Amino acid sequence: MLKDRMKKTGDLKKMKFHIRTFGCQMNENDSERIAGILKAEGAKPSASPEESDLIIINTCAVREKSEEKFYSYLGKMALIKKRKNVVIGVVGCVAQLYKSEILERKPFVDFIIGPDNYNTLSDIVRSDHEEKIISTNWSQTFHDFPPEKIFRKSRVSAYVTVMEGCDNFCSYCIVPYTRGREKFRPMKAILQEVRDLTREGYKETQLLGQNVNSYRDPESGRSFSFLLKEADRVNGVEWIRFITSHPKDFSRDIAEAMSGAEKVCHQLHLPVQSGSSSVLKRMNRGYTRDKYLDIISMLRNLMPDISLSTDIIVGYPGETEEEFQETLSVLDEVRFTNIFSFRYSPRPHTAASRQKDSVPLEKKKKRLIQVQALQKEIQVEFNKSLVGKTMKVLCLGKSKKDPQVYSGRNEGYQVVNFKSSEDFIGRFADVRITSCGPYSLIGEVV
Ligand code: SAH
Ligand code: SF4
Ligand code: F3S
Repeated sequence: MLKDRMKKTGDLKKMKFHIRTFGCQMNENDSERIAGILKAEGAKPSASPEESDLIIINTCAVREKSEEKFYSYLGKMALIKKRKNVVIGVVGCVAQLYKSEILERKPFVDFIIGPDNYNTLSDIVRSDHEEKIISTNWSQTFHDFPPEKIFRKSRVSAYVTVMEGCDNFCSYCIVPYTRGREKFRPMKAILQEVRDLTREGYKETQLLGQNVNSYRDPESGRSFSFLLKEADRVNGVEWIRFITSHPKDFSRDIAEAMSGAEKVCHQLHLPVQSGSSSVLKRMNRGYTRDKYLDIISMLRNLMPDISLSTDIIVGYPGETEEEFQETLSVLDEVRFTNIFSFRYSPRPHTAASRQKDSVPLEKKKKRLIQVQALQKEIQVEFNKSLVGKTMKVLCLGKSKKDPQVYSGRNEGYQVVNFKSSEDFIGRFADVRITSCGPYSLIGEVV
């Protein structure tokens, strides 16, 4: 049936497409794959939705706000569709979660594809859209995608997906319901992609997965630390990072692989979520405050210069003032380089959503402000200590605000802006830090 419909229209070659991505790096990488599929079919990317024939929205469902952002953008796309003939596809985590409900609420949407089904994309786009298509089947294994087809946004830093899905079921989190169970990509394919990227001149590789450190090669059973060591041996790769690690699975062998490697950055994102062991227990995180702090000590013993970042949730059901104070004190103790902090928001299917969302909104807001204010102080103090120092910066592009200013990241993944008359994009620069703000460093090339 699909084939008949393909015959009817089928001209992807004439199409201009626009992809809007919400959510995490995994979604960013998926959008690069989607763009690659469409480009391979002859469609052309377009900078704005107004000029496109096909608009794809890659969605995130992790918080209520993420969904709201998607619906607000979808509303704007609906206005475009009133003026011209355009196909609108909703893909990603919201698509997987609500499937046909989206079509019931928003009948102008033409198709729905979940994260495991992007291989069906070109057939769906080619269809005549008389019948709406929903493609949200789960896959048991990792769907590999020819890496040479990925249409990457950056020419400097590349994402390489190593695993997908999550088996952890943290009580608040929707990801296991949007991304399904853990699926690992064969190590051979991962390393081949890293090699190819280096050949193409990429300077940095970021290994991606919802729980990268639970990785096991489906063929040999080898673990994530082995993958790190192998990636480190690839000739030409300069910086390797990985995201996201779960503290519960963060074993000593990974820390040792990091410290023993030449190219693995001394930088780690390790979401703690809360500083209170009782909240962590209710969140089903599988570690205590002390266990988390032990991991931090182990990391700092092996790599005194390691740059650490984290995620924080405030206002989890039942979070008392004392429990919240423990989150503040964990920030004080660890002194992260950067944090991402969120107000708890109840999500469908999750265990926590069956409990009363008991912390009032005003209290959640107040706690979030407290977290961010404390972290800002910590970052200002840390960043000030870097003024005068010279560091290696990978230049990723030009600053959006000032085209004279180049923007990059240091090994610790901090944003560093610097003025230069020479074009540094795609190269490493030695930058001396001259001043700073809480969220970025400013310097000059030496
Ligand atoms: N796999 C990663 C990322 C999960 S989503 C991990 O395990 O850390 C990114 C972050 O969103 C989480 O770390 C958490 O801090 C936040 N988050 C997830 N669900 C949330 C919810 N229901 N309310 C508020 N924040 C949430
Ligand atoms: Fe969500 Fe927890 Fe899985 Fe992270 S580990 S994706 S927070 S369920
Ligand atoms: Fe969002 Fe899905 Fe990523 S819910 S955070 S886009 S895995």
